[in-house]
Amino acid sequence: MKYAEVIGDPIAHSKSPLIHGFWLKALGIDAAYRKTQVAAEALGDYFAARCDDPDWLGCNITIPHKQTALDFVEDRGDVRASIGAINTVFRADDAVVGTNTDAAGFYAPIAGMDLAGQPVVVIGAGGAARAILFALARVGVGRVTLLNRNPLKGAALLARFGLKGDALKLDAPIPPAALLVNATSLGMVGQPPLDLDLSALPDDAVVYDVVYAPLETDLLKAARARDLATVDGLEMLIGQAALAFELFFGQTPPRDRDDELRAILAS
Ligand code: ATR
Repeated sequence: MKYAEVIGDPIAHSKSPLIHGFWLKALGIDAAYRKTQVAAEALGDYFAARCDDPDWLGCNITIPHKQTALDFVEDRGDVRASIGAINTVFRADDAVVGTNTDAAGFYAPIAGMDLAGQPVVVIGAGGAARAILFALARVGVGRVTLLNRNPLKGAALLARFGLKGDALKLDAPIPPAALLVNATSLGMVGQPPLDLDLSALPDDAVVYDVVYAPLETDLLKAARARDLATVDGLEMLIGQAALAFELFFGQTPPRDRDDELRAILAS
């Protein structure tokens, strides 16, 4: 049977099989989507074996392989020079190609916002932050305040994406901004909390958390307590998966059934 999969280490927590499995069943596609643990030192062997497996349609890539996987696939869209990390590998003709659907998955829920020239706050400077800063640079946001435990890493990312702004420590005060995004794992189950003072945000600001476990993070609770609009982590998770699904299985997933899917993912 044809299949795609998600690879990472650890991988047990991944919700991707639930998402792709839901869509495969909904569309009646006779294929599977599974999760496979692949250690960092085994990544080269993994791709060598899968490229020779005619049933393998591709994979999603998660921690810690998003950057190193670029060494084993074709980079037709020059992702190395732009986002610098891939989350999806798929077959195209005879090639195995890497791409990144995180940036588009992040942006879709806020595509209605006019962010051109607007100040934004981003927390984090890891893989998710790279895709998010890439998307924000493309829409021409104004000053970016990037908070990370290592501000030098944050400053390097701002420079990489040609963004103007400030890279500060995590405890720096939040300035007024149209959009605030948490791109760290802080606030996730089992991780340290993210404790931000949102009082400087204007009443029409949007607060976006990439963390989806719990679905209502303390950050989103604080935003709702202030009546701010929010976007939760399942939006980006489902959005990036939908684009990958099309690349693996050649069909558009039924996004009109997102409510059903979100209920499954939240349970
Ligand atoms: P992802 O691909 O999900 O973005 P990542 O690349 O490991 O994962 O990035 C995780 C982000 O969360 C990083 O910004 C990381 O901070 P560093 O850049 O300093 O590594 C941040 N992060 C994770 N655990 C943290 C912690 N305990 N305290 C502060 N920041 C943390």
